[in-house]
Amino acid sequence: MEKYLISAVIWMAGYVMMAATPPIIVPGAIWPDNRGEHIQAHGGGLTQVGDTYYWFGEDRKQSNPRGRRYVSCYASTNLAQWTFRHQVVQLADPANLGRGWILERPKVFFHAPSRQFVMYAHIDNRTYKYARVAVFTCATVDGDYHYLNSFRPLGHESRDIGQFVDDDGLAYLIFEDRPFGFRIARLSTDYLNVDKEICLIPEHLEGGAIVHYDGLYYALGSALTGWDPNPNRYATAKTLAGPWSDFKEIAPPEKNTYGSQSSMLVKVTGTRATTVLFLGDIWKPNTQWDSRYLWMPLEIGAGKLTLPEPRDWTLDISTGESRIIK
Ligand code: GAL
Repeated sequence: MEKYLISAVIWMAGYVMMAATPPIIVPGAIWPDNRGEHIQAHGGGLTQVGDTYYWFGEDRKQSNPRGRRYVSCYASTNLAQWTFRHQVVQLADPANLGRGWILERPKVFFHAPSRQFVMYAHIDNRTYKYARVAVFTCATVDGDYHYLNSFRPLGHESRDIGQFVDDDGLAYLIFEDRPFGFRIARLSTDYLNVDKEICLIPEHLEGGAIVHYDGLYYALGSALTGWDPNPNRYATAKTLAGPWSDFKEIAPPEKNTYGSQSSMLVKVTGTRATTVLFLGDIWKPNTQWDSRYLWMPLEIGAGKLTLPEPRDWTLDISTGESRIIK
């Protein structure tokens, strides 16, 4: 109890000081929410609504009742201090997938015409042979998401998924289709389906992520080594359809992406600067609830992208400036 009180006081104090100094983000550390609990949003993604960011991800809390799979949602206006909102998915096995079934990498799109939130996630059995996406909808960003169905996008196998919303508002699903590669496909007009392939990059990439920065698309992902980290790589193109450049490492290869795996790239544009953030997971396969996050501002521009060595950093959400502090 005392522990939670102290965390809550620290969190509040941070909030009060926010106007003066942006709060510090510490890659790889326990990341407490407003209740003092480590954030459970693994393999996640961000959805912005107005000036609030919502972080959705796998909730792997030890105390979650077994059998179901969980997605939690947190809210923040500065990307550093997160308020737990709701366990938005508490799904029982929807398709006789059996013991050890999988619900991973949830991503939420806002569908403006219907004002509906649409979640995609990877759904699978324990041997990863089902290889489908599950689709959920909700009328509010942090309400109970209702499971609609699951399918193979455009008939292809789909395991790790990623989300990309372009500056023109068009929404895309990125998915890993073994044996072919990394596919970028457009969502249907109601967002409930995937209706057009934009590109197949014949590379095996998981944790797929894309950002559109200064006139170039950057696509990034990890190699297929399960929970173990590997050197994540990126390529660039002038259009999503390609042609894409060769893939290059985002950090010195011996660093294995500093122990992390990509999940999303987020562009924060403020009054003075645009910062692109790498959102990654540091997986702890045997204690998944304790898996950490590696979020860092990237060095990006003119076709080059580098993940710097993790350090503590701050982000001024209004100016868009990030600062590495030690
Ligand atoms: C990773 C993937 C994770 C999870 C894991 C299982 O490569 O990115 O989301 O599926 O494999 O081994």
